[in-house]
Amino acid sequence: MPRVSELFFKTAVVFLVLGIAAGLQMAISGDHGAFPAHAHINLLGWVTSAIFGGYYALNPAKAERRVAMIHYGLYTVGLVIMLPALYWMLAGGHPDVEPVVAIGSLIVAASVLVFAFVVFSAAETVRSATAATAR
Ligand code: HEM
Repeated sequence: MPRVSELFFKTAVVFLVLGIAAGLQMAISGDHGAFPAHAHINLLGWVTSAIFGGYYALNPAKAERRVAMIHYGLYTVGLVIMLPALYWMLAGGHPDVEPVVAIGSLIVAASVLVFAFVVFSAAETVRSATAATAR
């Protein structure tokens, strides 16, 4: 499996554990107020990361390009900023952290544009763009 796929899957499973923990916490406490955070941890953190990992596993030529690792780094940093802040905002009742959620969300959105570039580019184009960036 390409390294970027391995990284995406390892990251995904960490978010799955956290997402399920947040789900169990809501179910046990009976307070479902943080359900949007739980849903985003599971869907952005687990499901989407795993889909990215699967895409690169199916496209090893693209997985080798530096832009794939830029995609991974940007997406993961975005999630690490956004998801704890979203949880803290909803479960902890701290609306003041909303700007942090916004910054994380914008990084996640930017990384999705990078992924769109990877998907719509031929493997050769991705290689050329990466080489040009490295110069
Ligand atoms: C042991 C595992 C899980 C537990 C205990 C759990 C628990 C919960 C609870 C208590 C809610 C709030 C329901 C409500 O108030 O309407 C919820 C909502 C939600 N969960 Fe989970 N969950 C689990 C796993 C997952 C997974 C793996 C996913 C996605 C891959 C997921 C996606 C969602 C979504 C999207 C919602 C929001 C649904 C809505 O809009 O009402 N959950 N979950």
